[in-house]
Amino acid sequence: MPIDVARSRLKQGRGVIERYREYLPISDSTPTVSLGEGNSPLVYSVKLSTRVGRGCEVFVKNEGVNPTGSFKDRGMTVAVSKALERTAHALICASTGNTSASAAAYAARAGMPCAVILPAGKIASGKLLQAFACGAKIVAIEGNFDDALRIVRELSGQSDFAIVNSVNPDRIAGQKTAAFEIIDLLGDAPDFHLLPLGNAGNMTAYWAGYREYQAQGKSTKLPAMIGLEAADAAPIFHRRIIKKPETIASAIRIGNPASWKQAQAAIDESNGAVDVVSDKEIIDAQLWLAQREGIFVELASAAAIAGLFKCCDSRDAAYSFQKIPEGSRIVCTVTGHGLKDSDAFTKRMGDLKPVHARKEDVLRAIGL
Ligand code: F0G
Repeated sequence: MPIDVARSRLKQGRGVIERYREYLPISDSTPTVSLGEGNSPLVYSVKLSTRVGRGCEVFVKNEGVNPTGSFKDRGMTVAVSKALERTAHALICASTGNTSASAAAYAARAGMPCAVILPAGKIASGKLLQAFACGAKIVAIEGNFDDALRIVRELSGQSDFAIVNSVNPDRIAGQKTAAFEIIDLLGDAPDFHLLPLGNAGNMTAYWAGYREYQAQGKSTKLPAMIGLEAADAAPIFHRRIIKKPETIASAIRIGNPASWKQAQAAIDESNGAVDVVSDKEIIDAQLWLAQREGIFVELASAAAIAGLFKCCDSRDAAYSFQKIPEGSRIVCTVTGHGLKDSDAFTKRMGDLKPVHARKEDVLRAIGL
């Protein structure tokens, strides 16, 4: 194989900095800390497309296949590379779980210490395990995510910690590459983009990516951005801080999003919407996607799919799909892998009762 072909193939697996360097705050002197993130599948769903009807096409951007199982890795590669370039002493973040898992992994890769500040007892076990396995210093606080972020901001102001939450613009820069990938694959921007809203960094990042590519002439239009919050953790929807946010989707249990203004601007400028979905709708959507499409996502991610169903079916939807133009293209981002929160499922699975190791018994047990 010619050496340049081999190199370009290697680049594909090398992560978002190699792929989109010219769009990122990266110079020749920035060391690249990458785990080969990005390039996640954009899965066309016949069943979701049929559900929307009118010849529309629905794609699922499956970010759960990133190295640590969530979209955070796209931003983390840039944030940690820049922190290493600045020779920061250590990384620090507040998290509902995924940011801490990602920060811990990229810190390990960079050889930097990392502290993660988490709401005690509120983190899905798989995410906690990831941070622990990668050697992060884990501090649980008696408070929620919003309290943790407040403390992290205070700490990063007075010491040599590099904060790697999405308040760090390097995180947003990395995450906007998801919008680039969608346009690179579809040949243009979609008409609608649905995604879950927590701290609102991802909505901010996608909108930045869509706008930047349009300004570069890589796309002709911008999608309407539709953000989904959990019903009892919905500050942007209700336009007020929620002091005690509650939802089964722990990743988006946030009452005072850091990127609130930016996400609201994205929604307004794109003629999009913010809507809420109930815990039951989230659970149903998680099961639907796993059982109809084989894509197993965590609960927060399923909010995007629950939101799509609401846009199709409900009269109270903040955005109705009943009159959208024929042939519209819709992308739903699913943000994290279902295996991260196995506890939620193990409870529902019940005990497996073994049968005799005989063909007849096994066939009877299969029951098909
Ligand atoms: N989906 C998942 C799986 C998440 O982990 C998060 C945020 C979101 C959606 C919402 O994204 O905050 O950019 O609006 N998780 C953060 C964390 C808060 O600490 O892992 P957002």
